[in-house]
Amino acid sequence: MIPQLEKLKRECLDAIAKATDTEQLQEVEVKFIGRKGELTNILRGVKDLNDNEKPVIGKLSNEIKNELEQAIAAKKQKIESKALNAQLEDPTFDVTAPGPDRQKGHIHPLSQVQKEVEDIFTSMGFMIKDGPEAESEYYNFEGLNIPAWHPARDMQDTFFIKNKEDKKHGRMVLRTHTSPVQVRTMEEFGAPLRMIVPGRTFRYEATDASHDTTFYQVEGLMIDKHISISHLKGVLKQFLSKLFGREVKVRIRPGYFPFVEPGLEVDFSCLICEGKGCRVCKKTGWVEFMGAGMVHENVLKAGGIDPKKWQGWAFGFGLTRLVMMRHGIDDIRHNLSGDLRFVNQF
Ligand code: PHE
Repeated sequence: MIPQLEKLKRECLDAIAKATDTEQLQEVEVKFIGRKGELTNILRGVKDLNDNEKPVIGKLSNEIKNELEQAIAAKKQKIESKALNAQLEDPTFDVTAPGPDRQKGHIHPLSQVQKEVEDIFTSMGFMIKDGPEAESEYYNFEGLNIPAWHPARDMQDTFFIKNKEDKKHGRMVLRTHTSPVQVRTMEEFGAPLRMIVPGRTFRYEATDASHDTTFYQVEGLMIDKHISISHLKGVLKQFLSKLFGREVKVRIRPGYFPFVEPGLEVDFSCLICEGKGCRVCKKTGWVEFMGAGMVHENVLKAGGIDPKKWQGWAFGFGLTRLVMMRHGIDDIRHNLSGDLRFVNQF
């Protein structure tokens, strides 16, 4: 059987040497060492040999198999590098040409606008603050002058988290607004203070085109000596004019929020009709934009700030709504749908 094996080996090495491309090489592989190949056939006969021959032939056939496998791999590499060299020598092959284009991701429209808002406010000396999305009842309500019995608790439909009640901080909720970060930041830094808080907020809503359970707000807070509503108006006018890249008018009306006194609603002049009245502004020339007001003294006290020495204002607006206005998005649910057909338009 030994001469038979040696012959097979020579034939196979010969065939490998003659192969000029990978297809031919593969044929050789199948013919000699494939599952139905000649060497495999011989190996199948080994079990019928006597006990003296068995180990010798077994060992030799395995050695030959390894040797042939290596020879095939080496030849394959040779053929491939030859093909590559041929390609490089081809005068029409441009090695400097850019490779295939890769698809790039981009920033979500909500994050784009958030970044712009942050840039404008940092340029006016405001810091960017963050706060927990799972918040205590204390920071979300009590600290903001909304006691448990207060009817304003009904203004916001709230997700409560099932956990143990804390004596001071009450139960846990998903924050219904970014306002809890007001007291948190006062506790952390004291006065004076200038900050904004962009962040995710949650309400227990039946969803439709203009309501979602998750949306984004931006809170603003400025505390110093001799701060008045005119500073608020000035900052907001500057902010909106920079954001929209043109002069924007700001209008202030009375409004009610337990954590400000006086409380305000802020509108800006409609950018579609320039104040003449259209569908977007419901023929009023003004677009409702945010809640605001002078920080209530109970809120300053909760934050450890002396209301006799310091005063300030706060505002809160819907970042999600701002993005929708900017891009003419007609359904709030698109924003967080993760649908690429939506996201890739921005
Ligand atoms: N937190 C209020 C809301 O979610 C907005 C607001 C913030 C109003 C700050 C006044 C001052 O509607």
